[in-house]
Amino acid sequence: MIRLHVPAGRCPGERRVPLAPEHLARLADLGLAVAVERGAGEGSFYNDAAYASAGAELVGPGDRARADVVLTLEGVPEGGAWKRGAVLVGLLLEGTDRGRLAALAAAGVDAYALEFLPRVSRAQAMDVLSSQATCAGYHGAVLAASVHRAFFPMMTTAFGTLKPARVLVLGAGVAGLSALATVRRLGAEAWGYDVRRAAREQVESLGARFLDLGIDAATPEGYARPLSEEEVRRQDEALLERLPQMDIVITTALLAGRRAPVLLEGRHLDALPAGALVVDLAVDGGGNCRLSRPDEIVVRGAVRVLAPRRPAAGLARHASAMLGRNFLAFLALLVRDGTVRRPDDDPLLRATVLTHDGAVVHPAFVAPAEGPHP
Ligand code: NAI
Repeated sequence: MIRLHVPAGRCPGERRVPLAPEHLARLADLGLAVAVERGAGEGSFYNDAAYASAGAELVGPGDRARADVVLTLEGVPEGGAWKRGAVLVGLLLEGTDRGRLAALAAAGVDAYALEFLPRVSRAQAMDVLSSQATCAGYHGAVLAASVHRAFFPMMTTAFGTLKPARVLVLGAGVAGLSALATVRRLGAEAWGYDVRRAAREQVESLGARFLDLGIDAATPEGYARPLSEEEVRRQDEALLERLPQMDIVITTALLAGRRAPVLLEGRHLDALPAGALVVDLAVDGGGNCRLSRPDEIVVRGAVRVLAPRRPAAGLARHASAMLGRNFLAFLALLVRDGTVRRPDDDPLLRATVLTHDGAVVHPAFVAPAEGPHP
C-alpha cells in the first residue's frame, strides 16, 4: 500500500483539511493507506473518530517521514524529515521560493503544485483554485451582509420602504461571480467589474450589471494582464466617480503569478458613503485595497475595510469537502496500478511538477531567484 499523509493546518485561520472522511473509501480502492494527523479535521467539524472509522490511522506530525505521498494546503512545509522518493501534492505556491524547492528536491521529494493545473476540461475536477474561489466569494458576500449594518434586500414594510444595498464586486472571475450570485440571492443590487470584457456576459447572467470602465486587458489565453499606467489612471478615475453610489465593495482581483492589483487607495475609501464596507478577498495575494490589514477591521472615517485571510476557510466544511474531491481526482491520475507515476506520464502531471529527480524543474522557478508569489 502507498502511505498517504494528511497534515493538520498550521497557518493562522486555516480551518480546512485536504480530505474528509467520506473520501477515504475511494483512496483505499486506489491502493492508498491514509494516515491523518490528530485534530486535522476539527476546523471543518470532521473529528478523529470519523476518520478512524473510515479506515484512517491517526498519527502525529512526525509520521510524515514515513509517508509516500503528503498533501498540503499551506505551501511547502519547512523542516521535518521526508522519506526519500516521497511526493508532495497540493497548494504549494504560498511562501515558496526557489531555495525552499531546492531543499525539497535535495531531500528527494517530487512536488506537484495544483495551482499550475491548466484550465482544461479534463482538469476541472481537480481545480482547487476554482473550488476554493467559489467558497471565498460566497463567504465574502455573507460576511459583508452580516457586518453591514443594513438590509441587503429592499424592504417594504408597514412603516415604509428601505432601499436595497448596492454592492460592487471588483474582479469577476470565479470568486467574484460567486460573490455576485450570493449578494443577488440576498436581494442586493449588484454591479460587477473586470478588466476582461468576457466577464460582462457572466456578470449579467447573474442579474447584476457590468460596470464598463472602458478597459479591456485580457490576454489571448483569456486571463487578465497587468494594466498600463494610463489604464490604471483611467480605472482609478472611473471608479472614483462610481463609488459614492455603492454601500459595499467586495474585491477579488488577482493576477496569476503576481501581486494582486491595488484598486482602492485611501481616496477611493473617502469617496464611499458613510457606513460603507469594503471586503478585500485578495489579501492573501497582497490585497486590492492599499489600507487592508489581514484579519483586521480598518476604519477610515465612516468606512470599514475587512480583509479575511484564507477566505475559503470561512466555509471550511464545504471547502474541505470540495478539496477532497479535487485531491481524489488528482490522486487517481498520479497513482496507477498501485504505483506513483512519473511526471512525463501525463500532461497534467508535467504541467504541475515543481521538483523531480533531485532538481527544481518548473519554468516559473528554474531561472529567476524568486518564485511567482509576492
Ligand atoms: P483569478 O482568481 O486569477 O483573478 C480574479 C479576477 O480578477 C479575474 O477575473 C481577473 O480578470 C480579474 N482582474 C485582474 N486584474 C483586475 C483589475 N485590475 N481590475 C478588475 N479585475 C481584475 O481568476 P480566476 O477566477 O481563477 O479565473 C479567471 C478566468 O479563468 C476566467 O476567464 C474564468 O472563466 C476562467 N476559468 C476557467 C475555468 C475552466 O475552464 N475550467 C475554471 C476557472 C476559471
